[in-house]
Amino acid sequence: MTVRTELRLLRMVVPYRGRLALALGTTALASLLDGFTLIILIPLLKHLFGTTGALRTGSTRLEEFVSRVTEPFVAGLTPGQAAGRLVLVLVLGLLLKNALSYASTQLSVGVQEGLVRDLRTRIFDHLLTLDLGYFQRTRAGQLISGMITEVDQTKTVITASLLSLFQNLVVVATTLVVLSQISLRLTLLTLACVPAMVLLLQSLLKRLRRHSRARTRERGEVTATIAERIGAVRLIRSYGEEARESARFAAQATRYRRQVIRTQRYSSLTSPLTEVFSGFLVILIIWAGTRPALIGLSAPLAPEAIIVFLMAALKLTSPLKTISSYPAVMAVTLASAERVFEILDEPSTELDRPGEGTARFEREVLFDRVSFRYGRGDPVLTEVSFALPRGRVVALVGPSGAGKTTLADLLPRFHDPTGGQITMDGVPLTRLTRSSIRALMGVVSQDTVLLNDTVYANITYGSPGATRQQVEAAAQAANADLFLSQLPEGYETLLGERGTRLSGGQRQRIAIARALLRDPPILILDEATSALDTESERLVQQAIDRLMADRTVLVIAHRLATVRDADEIVVLDQGRVVQRGTHEQLFRSGGLYRRLYDLQFRDQEPVLAVER
Ligand SMILES: Nc1ncnc2c1ncn2[C@@H]1O[C@H](COP(=O)(O)OP(=O)(O)OP(=O)(O)O)[C@@H](O)[C@H]1O
Ligand SMILES: [Mg+2]
Repeated sequence: MTVRTELRLLRMVVPYRGRLALALGTTALASLLDGFTLIILIPLLKHLFGTTGALRTGSTRLEEFVSRVTEPFVAGLTPGQAAGRLVLVLVLGLLLKNALSYASTQLSVGVQEGLVRDLRTRIFDHLLTLDLGYFQRTRAGQLISGMITEVDQTKTVITASLLSLFQNLVVVATTLVVLSQISLRLTLLTLACVPAMVLLLQSLLKRLRRHSRARTRERGEVTATIAERIGAVRLIRSYGEEARESARFAAQATRYRRQVIRTQRYSSLTSPLTEVFSGFLVILIIWAGTRPALIGLSAPLAPEAIIVFLMAALKLTSPLKTISSYPAVMAVTLASAERVFEILDEPSTELDRPGEGTARFEREVLFDRVSFRYGRGDPVLTEVSFALPRGRVVALVGPSGAGKTTLADLLPRFHDPTGGQITMDGVPLTRLTRSSIRALMGVVSQDTVLLNDTVYANITYGSPGATRQQVEAAAQAANADLFLSQLPEGYETLLGERGTRLSGGQRQRIAIARALLRDPPILILDEATSALDTESERLVQQAIDRLMADRTVLVIAHRLATVRDADEIVVLDQGRVVQRGTHEQLFRSGGLYRRLYDLQFRDQEPVLAVER
């Protein structure tokens, strides 16, 4: 699981390999320069201490190594001049090293932000292909948190994992070379202590990973609560739930805090542990370095050798610390990455499958013993059969919860039947691409969905090629032109979050204009159950009547006028068709239709669904 997640993350970095290689290259160069300045330090110190002759390292290796490195800079100079030259080289080296580090940081920012962008757009695109049921199961806030916070966390894989790890490995390697030139035995002794450290850290990581995962979940819950409660601010106010909401949120924030503390307990522990460990190392080096017999040297090391060795050994501590904390950082990062991949791994149901054809509609849509259930729930539709011939209007009626909306959702393949089939001109819908089916359909739902964009953008949503005249004609047919002309900026007026700057009736008319503009051969209409005032109601109904004209319509009817005019009425009860026929036939034969009629339609009021 872990390895897989890491590999998948790395694969996301592949497009940036050029830039990343450059970043790694500059990093390596910077580290080499670092080691180089360290070596330059030896002759300088030697000069300052005034020691002459070979360093007492027990061998002449260091002497040879140092002179090989420094020779080009000091050849033919007096000792005094040489010292001056070495200082200059040191300063230049320092400047160059930092310039390179800066460049590498900038490069890595480019790579990691590229990764963030790619992951975000991938999740977004993926969400667009997921089953509707997924969005009903998942809190939107959890998805937002995944796309924002967790994706942001995963970029650490670039800074922490790739660059930092690499940089520190290079530092460690160059430093080890310097160290081993001073004293191989001392170096080996130093290195012998590392596995102990690694073992110690390992035990921390498992816990850290587990707590990081829990933290990721809690973070998503916090975001989800915020998003949902902001959307429900009217409800909270009307029912005076402020105090309880506040307490509930505080409790959640506290849970998150607790989880962060738990996680930090382990991740913060890595730092002091390595600190103590490096302190221990320094003492060990001084102690062993000054006792040559202990490590098998003939004489103690020269002071400059010990100083440089110590400096080098200390230089090791920071990279070693980073390398050793790398698994901890990665544990946190991977917990976030897991969440990201969890979303990306949701199966896409919306993608066209090979073999699916393009929908054509000339004759009729046929529901043939269609059954459906949500997930593993109880059947919502059972063996529903009826025909929707071209140019006809079929009205669905039935008590609330009968399955009307569910049935209408099967037509544009928002869900596929779990039994039976729906055919269009004889071809099962499941053998046709969703996009081609939906291109034939306009959907006007019970609750109108508007985006926080201009009126114009909302009407042309789904018809990007529409001309201004067409838009205005659609608005006019939808009885929206009058109120639109009264808006401060007309078609350019922004509608606010979910179109809340318009009244309910106005929103519906915008949605109708949108469907009119698209001009689909098939219309799926879920008549609004919410009563509008008489005037608004008349405008909306007139618009709907224009929309229904000359189209094949499946309408979930809540109006007497609609059922009267329908070519066929299908009466649903608990997911089964209990009656079929025209208004006159059904009215005469009594039964459920008659009871619904008495309750719903009698006063010609547009109200609706009755709980049974
Ligand atoms: N996403 C869902 N997951 C699980 N069950 C669902 C889901 N949507 C609807 N149901 C259930 O399916 C049944 C039919 O719901 P549906 O929305 O189709 O009824 P309806 O006839 O449109 O009712 P109304 O007239 O109130 O709109 C109900 O029992 C409902 O609880
Ligand atoms: Mg419904």
